[in-house]
Amino acid sequence: MTRTVGVFVGSLRSGAHTRKVARVLAELAPGNLSLEVVEIGQLPLYNPDFDGADPPAAWTAFRERVKPLDALLFVTPEYNRSIPSALKNALDVGSRPAKQGAWDGKPGAVVSVSPGALGAFGAHHHLRQVLAHLNVATLAQPEIYLGGVADLLDESGALTKDSTRALLTRFLATFAVWIERNPAPGRS
Ligand code: FNR
Repeated sequence: MTRTVGVFVGSLRSGAHTRKVARVLAELAPGNLSLEVVEIGQLPLYNPDFDGADPPAAWTAFRERVKPLDALLFVTPEYNRSIPSALKNALDVGSRPAKQGAWDGKPGAVVSVSPGALGAFGAHHHLRQVLAHLNVATLAQPEIYLGGVADLLDESGALTKDSTRALLTRFLATFAVWIERNPAPGRS
């Protein structure tokens, strides 16, 4: 059975390395995973005051887009040793209304991306902390910290190294098994 994986890209920047990595992941995914980017840049900042009977249409559309997904893949850069605010906002929007969160119980995975040497380690682990609270079953290994990303992609966005391709292919194969072992509520 093909599983639909929502891909959440933490950078809103045109030409983002992170979105290029997301594209590469979609291309390398095994046949039983369909990776689809779910946009987050259109979401108004989360404010409980507006989350009553008539919430912003963009919040409702996002929640309805996330709920049917079989799995979640977060591809994020690091801003000031944490996740970019746009990604945290999307996580907050999807987490409400209380007890009706869109993320609850789904299998997930994290890829962090940086031009720097540390591979966005801080963002990666802040994100894992949030996902634990949202009851996302996040794949533990392999951990993917893509440091020096500017050298890992060419101008067209293709990978420059076979070793990166092998790592990401192994990661995706492991994630596919993880999704089968930890199905989202209502899936078998
Ligand atoms: C950064 N950058 C950055 N990089 C990093 O490795 N650790 C960090 O803490 C930060 N902090 C940070 C804060 C802010 C506000 C910006 C705009 C940038 C640099 C960041 O990794 C770089 O801009 C990447 O290119 C962002 O990823 P995308 O947009 O290319 O996907």
